[in-house]
Amino acid sequence: MTIQENFSLLSYNTFGVKVNARYFAVVQSLEDLQSAILFAKENNLPLLFLGGGSNILFAQDFAGLVVQLNLKGIAIVSQGEDEVLISAQAGENWHEFVQYCLRNNYGGLENLSLIPGNVGTSPIQNIGAYGVEIKDVFHSCTVLHLSTFALETFTLPQCNFGYRDSVFKNVGKGKYVIMEVTYRLTKNNHAIRVDYGAIQNELAKMGVGTPPSIQEVSRAVVAIRESKLPNPKLIGNAGSFFKNPTVDIQFFNDLKLRFPTISGYANEKGVKIAAGWLIEQAGWKGKQIGNVACHHLQALVIINKTGRASGKEIYDFSEKIIQSVKEKFSIVLEREVNIV
Ligand code: FAD
Ligand code: EPU
Repeated sequence: MTIQENFSLLSYNTFGVKVNARYFAVVQSLEDLQSAILFAKENNLPLLFLGGGSNILFAQDFAGLVVQLNLKGIAIVSQGEDEVLISAQAGENWHEFVQYCLRNNYGGLENLSLIPGNVGTSPIQNIGAYGVEIKDVFHSCTVLHLSTFALETFTLPQCNFGYRDSVFKNVGKGKYVIMEVTYRLTKNNHAIRVDYGAIQNELAKMGVGTPPSIQEVSRAVVAIRESKLPNPKLIGNAGSFFKNPTVDIQFFNDLKLRFPTISGYANEKGVKIAAGWLIEQAGWKGKQIGNVACHHLQALVIINKTGRASGKEIYDFSEKIIQSVKEKFSIVLEREVNIV
């Protein structure tokens, strides 16, 4: 493992922001990882782990050590007639892992097709799309404790998964690095999840039979995503910049009187509102300031429109959206993207 100095992170963040890390290392093994952590400790440096860089905004240069996890490997842990426990190392690309499972007819990940990033990051914000979250198929993950170097296992209840949330974003933040994740997938009698309206429309367009196969669900999800989410290889972005807020029911009913077209989905905490709708109604969809813009097809996505935006510019743009939505709806949007 080599530790490089003054390293450009331009191709390591999907926003395509030009920032430098004071030190940078790619790790391929547990030994590499431990050496990198020791280097940071000995030199009193802040430490940052990176997967695919698709949920991070560098608002400034990073004055410590950035460690990119390139641990590779996929293995069957155990299997029976109906289920398989399959593990993947943190550095496996998420979508390639999903494709691997689909080729083997393992069901459970198809709705999560084409989400950028790596396997090791999937539990951190409990990635979710089209009616499925990672918690629905998660079995456990192996983590390295940063202070003791002990390898620990986190099971489903210990991860405390919520909407775009887990223990790793709260009490466990900065304490562990995720090295490997194990999922519980189906080998037959797959639970087909097509309740999300857009999937049904897409499957109908594809003209597939009922019930669709997991491979067909994946194809439908890929088609929907390609039709409205900007490809980060072509235009810098990190997916949804904000979370969809949940408000209490009384507040929602009052809003509905003032804005009759607002829609919301009841959950255990209140009513979840589409942040994309709030941002669009506040006049931001397609709007550009300097090098940054709000995507013209999906207002929840902030883009590096010219390719020359700085992280600070993107952050300031997001702050303006927060202020504007707050003024119009008295709702304070929370960022989903990790700001560094
Ligand atoms: P990174 O950006 O590299 O890291 C994210 C955070 O995790 C950082 O704080 C980092 O320090 C930390 N971290 C990374 N690896 C580890 C590790 N092994 N151990 C501990 N900490 C670690 N997300 C969804 O949930 N649903 C979607 O539908 C979705 N769609 C997207 C669409 C687009 C076009 C884009 C660009 C992003 C989308 N995202 C979506 C967000 C993103 O893809 C996910 O959050 C993904 O899991 C991030 O993975 P990553 O490896 O790129 O994370
Ligand atoms: N909407 C608008 N205007 C917009 C965008 C959305 O009015 O510009 C409204 C529409 O009414 C639409 C509703 O918002 O019906 C929901 O939109 P969409 O189905 O695109 O989903 P989303 O809530 O905007 C969430 C996730 C996505 C995930 C999709 C599909 C969050 C923060 N985002 O987006 O995840 O892919 O659902 O399940 O929960 C991500 O986390 O990065 C991400 C892309």
